[in-house]
Parts: sequence; C-alpha cells; structure tokens
Amino acid sequence: MQKKYEGIIKQAAAEHKLERDEIITLLSCDGPALEFLFAAADQVRKTFMGDAVHLRGLIEFSSYCQRNCTYCGLRENNKTLSRYRLDAEEILTIARAAVPLGYKTVVLQSGEDSYYSAEMIAVITCRLKEELSLAVTLSLGERAKEDYRLWREAGADRYLLKHETSDAELYGALHPDMDWGNRKKSLYTLRELGYQVGSGCMVGLPGQTLTSLAADLLLFKELDVEMAGIGPFIPNPNTPLASAQRGTVELTLKMIAIARLLMPQTHLPATTALGSIDSKGRQKALVAGANVVMPNITPNKYRRLYEIYPNKICLDDNPAHCRNCIGGIISSLGRTVAESAGHSPKEQFTLGLG
Ligand code: 5AD
Ligand code: SF4
Ligand code: FES
Repeated sequence: MQKKYEGIIKQAAAEHKLERDEIITLLSCDGPALEFLFAAADQVRKTFMGDAVHLRGLIEFSSYCQRNCTYCGLRENNKTLSRYRLDAEEILTIARAAVPLGYKTVVLQSGEDSYYSAEMIAVITCRLKEELSLAVTLSLGERAKEDYRLWREAGADRYLLKHETSDAELYGALHPDMDWGNRKKSLYTLRELGYQVGSGCMVGLPGQTLTSLAADLLLFKELDVEMAGIGPFIPNPNTPLASAQRGTVELTLKMIAIARLLMPQTHLPATTALGSIDSKGRQKALVAGANVVMPNITPNKYRRLYEIYPNKICLDDNPAHCRNCIGGIISSLGRTVAESAGHSPKEQFTLGLG
C-alpha cells in the first residue's frame, strides 16, 4: 500500500481531522489502501460507538410532495404515482406494532406535504412519546421555524433534513424550486432549537465531483451533525434524471468510512439505497463505519407507492419480516441490536440537555 494513504488514514483515525485535499485523495484510493480505510473506520466505530446497532423504524406516512427535486420519484410532477396519506390513528397503530419488535425510535418521513398542519404533527409526536415512550425523529422537509419549534416542544428528539449536495450550483440545478442558502439555514435553525440534527447527501449525482463530495463531508463536520445519511444516487425512470448514471457502492462506502474517521460519535446509517443497489450493501456499510439501520415499518400496501427510486428493497416484506431479516444481518456480523433509544452519545444529549 502506498505510504501516502496509510499516513493520512492513521492520522485521521487518531485525530478525526482531514483537509479537503486529503479527503479527495482518500476518495480515489483502491486496493489495499481501500481495505485499510474500511478497517480503520470499522475500528473507530467500534471504539466510539460499540458493537450495538441502532434500529430506527421508518414510517413513510405521506407520499405527497409539493417539490420537484429532479432525482426523486415523489416529485409533484411525477403523475405516474398514486399518492397516499396516513392519518394520526394509522401512524399510531404502526408505531404501536413496532414496540414489541424492539424499536425504540420511529422516524416519521414524508414528502413536503402541507396537508399536515404543524399542530397535527405535534399531536402525533406527543402521543408517540407519551403513549409509547418512543424516541421520535421527524423528516418532513423544510418548514417554518415556528413549526420546528412546536414539534420540538411536543417532544420530537431529532430532525432529519439531508443537505443532498453542498455544491450550491449543483443544488440549484437539482432543486428548481429550492434554495441552497435556505437549506443550510434550516439545518442551523434545527440545531438552535436543540434537535439532534441529521443531514445527509447522495453520492454519484450527475455533475458531482470528488471535490464536492469532500465538501459534503466537511459540511457534516461544520454542522457537527448527530447523524449523517449517505446513500448512492439511483436514477428513477419517471424523473428528469432517468438516463443519468447511478452512484457506485464503492464510492458510497468510502464516503461512509471517511465520515466515520472525521466524526467518531455521529450516527451513520447503512442506507436502504445502498441495500437496494447491492444485496450486501448494508452489510458492507456496517463494517465500514456505519452503526445504524432504518428498516421500513410502513404497511405493505403503501410501500410500492413510496417509490423514490426503482428496485427499493423490502417492497413485499412486512415489518416483522424486515425486523427478523435485519436481526439476522446484525448477528451474522457478530454485532448486537441496541437496547437503548440510541440518542447521540454527545455529552449535551446524554445529560438530557438537548
Ligand atoms: N436516489 C437515491 N436517493 C434518493 N432520494 C431521493 N431520490 C433519490 C434517488 N433517485 C433520497 C434523498 C432524499 C430522500 C427522500 O431520498 O436523499 O432526502
Ligand atoms: Fe419531495 Fe423530498 Fe423527493 Fe424532493 S427529495 S421531491 S422534497 S420527497
Ligand atoms: Fe426488509 Fe431485509 S430488511 S427484507
């Protein structure tokens, strides 16, 4: 292995710092250097996060979206998709069934759907906390600061708002009706309100460079995120990016591994998108720095309709089946399913100040 890679990786594993150019160098490594990078990330994960894997039960509660992100199947202009919305009782029923499966966190995810008022989401959040003692992550896109505040007051623990790409120009091209500055501002607002903040990016977007991927990692670090979801871009035939190339498994794993070196205490999921382009994708991520999995707990009849990208895994599987499947994957790697809520291990959250 070239000494240059080994030196950078060892230093990053010890100090959790990398310059932009060093990140770019690591993003282009291969062979033994790549194996060394994954092993170093796995070791940092083990030291700082342990062997327990946190499960987050994902409820895709509305497939309506008012945005038109050019990569996403839920975009409003995709008229090939039948849309659905779940009401509060349905969401509560799904969450109730997730508790005996061992879930400690539910993630409420939807397109940007203003049908749900801030009050409706607050009531659902409050009930999930009070009736089921679940940790609650919200992932509903950009909303007014007052909405974020109300939900935080209702007990929401975490908010997931991926920055998608930190390249302002590329962001503008992919999001015809959105603004990069607003995105970043929203992430800072969530931080100010005391959420455990999750961001994320896609890997392999058309026009994306290694320089821009390095900037994505540095932005996670700047935001000091509690969670970073990193997944491959997968072209969807019903979107303007239908004929673009998809992101690769290898580059996605490199991004996860470098994220782990940089941010030893940040939750890193083995994403569903990675599992969808490689049947062993999630396993590979879990031994390259990842420590979280987000199994789908949406009822079967809705899963096909939440078609962000094609060939998503688990479309015909029910929540109990997915829970079993994930349990098997985790134990086959010699790891365990976490028993705690899996809040950020950073001090301000473990002391309950968040
Ligand atoms: N490929 C991969 N991930 C996608 N997402 C949306 N469209 C795609 C796609 N084509 C991800 C984005 C977004 C979430 C809803 O799904 O990161 O945050
Ligand atoms: Fe809507 Fe999110 Fe898809 Fe954009 S990425 S179209 S905001 S669901
Ligand atoms: Fe759904 Fe494996 S996680 S079948």
